[in-house]
Amino acid sequence: MEQLTSMPRIGDKALDFEAVTTTGKLKFSDYNKGSWVILFSHPADFTPVCTTELSGFAQEKDFFAKNNTKLIGLSIDSIHSHIAWVNAVQEKTGVLFEFPIIADIDMAISKLYGMLQPGESETAAVRAVFIIDPEGKVRLIMYYPLNIGRNMEEIKRTLLALQTSDTNKCAMPLNWQPGDKVIVPAPKTVEALLERKNSKLEMVDWYLAKRSLN
Ligand code: BEZ
Repeated sequence: MEQLTSMPRIGDKALDFEAVTTTGKLKFSDYNKGSWVILFSHPADFTPVCTTELSGFAQEKDFFAKNNTKLIGLSIDSIHSHIAWVNAVQEKTGVLFEFPIIADIDMAISKLYGMLQPGESETAAVRAVFIIDPEGKVRLIMYYPLNIGRNMEEIKRTLLALQTSDTNKCAMPLNWQPGDKVIVPAPKTVEALLERKNSKLEMVDWYLAKRSLN
């Protein structure tokens, strides 16, 4: 499957693909059905930063399951390399990468998702993260360079922020954490503005008001 390089954008439909993975062949749209998916790439198997990152994802298995989210990793290594790495990490540390890891040896999926950024590396995927909702829409994108590991707390925070925002039709302020107040959409009429002025919302100005979710 020869693909031109494309850059997915927030709000785009996640492009579908079929892949060979460490849990068998899969079709992305089937994997995505009914759940959130975090698709993430790493530069190479058997490298230190990547080992810490994938271990971090594996150790958050219960968090992601509880929040209806599946994981899927990717690098341009072979399936044999992936299996050997999974085995080595499990033997050395006891951590098992149970989520599928795509063997993207022809780079087709890396190109489809803009994971190859030649200014950073001609031969390895950068550290990309795509949070994709159950409707198959790309909701959040992060790109990190080869030498900087991602922040698992930020990945978890942004996933919960998206889910909470969808459920409560609100926005999240700077550094929002679960349990913090959320931002209420600004009023669209003068009547709504007057209503807001008489409400119990925490109001900084007419367009910036917060409320608790509990
Ligand atoms: C690492 O995971 O340690 C790594 C991989 C590729 C380039 C630099 C670091």
